[in-house]
Amino acid sequence: MSIVRPFNVEQVRSDFPVLNREVHGKPLVYFDTAASAQRPVAVIEAIDDFYRRHNANVHRGVHSLSQEATDLYEGGRKKLADFINAASDREIVFTRGTTEAINLVAQSFLRPVLNPGDEILVSHMEHHANIVPWQMLCQQTGAVLKVIPINQRGELEIESLPDLLTERVKLVGLVHISNALGTVNPVAEVCRMAKKSGIPVLIDGAQAMPHTPVDVQALGCDFYCLSGHKMYGPTGIGALWAREATLEAMPPWQGGGEMIRRVTFEDTTWNDVPAKFEAGTPHIAGAIGLGAAVDYLSSFDPAEIAVHENTVLEYASQRLQEIEGLRIIGTAHHKAGVISFTLKDVHPHDLGTVIDHYGIALRTGHHCAMPVMQFFGVPATARVSFGLYNTVSEVDALIEALLSAREMFV
Ligand code: ALA
Repeated sequence: MSIVRPFNVEQVRSDFPVLNREVHGKPLVYFDTAASAQRPVAVIEAIDDFYRRHNANVHRGVHSLSQEATDLYEGGRKKLADFINAASDREIVFTRGTTEAINLVAQSFLRPVLNPGDEILVSHMEHHANIVPWQMLCQQTGAVLKVIPINQRGELEIESLPDLLTERVKLVGLVHISNALGTVNPVAEVCRMAKKSGIPVLIDGAQAMPHTPVDVQALGCDFYCLSGHKMYGPTGIGALWAREATLEAMPPWQGGGEMIRRVTFEDTTWNDVPAKFEAGTPHIAGAIGLGAAVDYLSSFDPAEIAVHENTVLEYASQRLQEIEGLRIIGTAHHKAGVISFTLKDVHPHDLGTVIDHYGIALRTGHHCAMPVMQFFGVPATARVSFGLYNTVSEVDALIEALLSAREMFV
């Protein structure tokens, strides 16, 4: 889909039905897009239309509905492939989300080649989804998890990489945009450095997809993992991107329907990629909804989205700092979408509960990134995260609510 709409935040807001509702008698201010974005009506309607008019299983029937469902499902794959500049739609494996995509790479790509003493390198700012699958793999193989340090601003210490990228490292796993800090990592540079040593790189792109154009070929990574619901699509659907030759060389991960070519009790042969990795009936409506989300995002100039989101982010950073006792956790030079903070010694959960009564949704807790909390010496933070529908006047509402909460607690 080509760009057809100039970016106008009020028009954008009217695309998201949930933004019309009230919470505790106040207009909803949704500042939890990093946890799950809201859905535009185009995505809701695409899913509704599938179930109302085309619902059937894919790749399995000669009847018309099955063929329509297959076309719509594969259409979602093609849209996503084009959106991230994959060389072919065969490079897109649908998964339940980023987490499943990372687990797939861990178990199918890396496990067969890992030996005791080999290393997997991740950064200190990873989400648990880019830590725990590798830890499990280390337990299974005797490999060792190593950590790229971060600095007090929450930026990657990239200067430590040359020493860390030894011949023992068999994969680097790095988050593109940190869900806990908002840091935008120099992923292309890390890929270049790793490539010099022939080390494959996996990028956790869950938070990046809604905020920045992603071109997997230009990034130079080997694996890119993403989730539909972070980019205005449905939950339960996401994707792994990898080059076709890489996917072809990987053994299947889960066995079952669709991933086979021929089964006997003696032996089974595998389907072509990506079907080899899509065992069982897939999330058909999810893939269709994800395709609609791609269409929705593609209907804007990404640069206009970025300008709008940066304006909201910078305004919020500046206004939050006016609140006495508020500490922003994560002050990287290059940030997107997220501000984590603490307010004196008020527990973030208490803060979040009070703020909810102002109709404002924010997330509190460790954000599935406990090592980040440990690094900054806090048990949890409050986190506001932005989507393309947020406005500076919503930030004003947040500041007012925080000032009232501050009176209550401090
Ligand atoms: N990873 C999601 C978040 O940051 C759930 O909230």
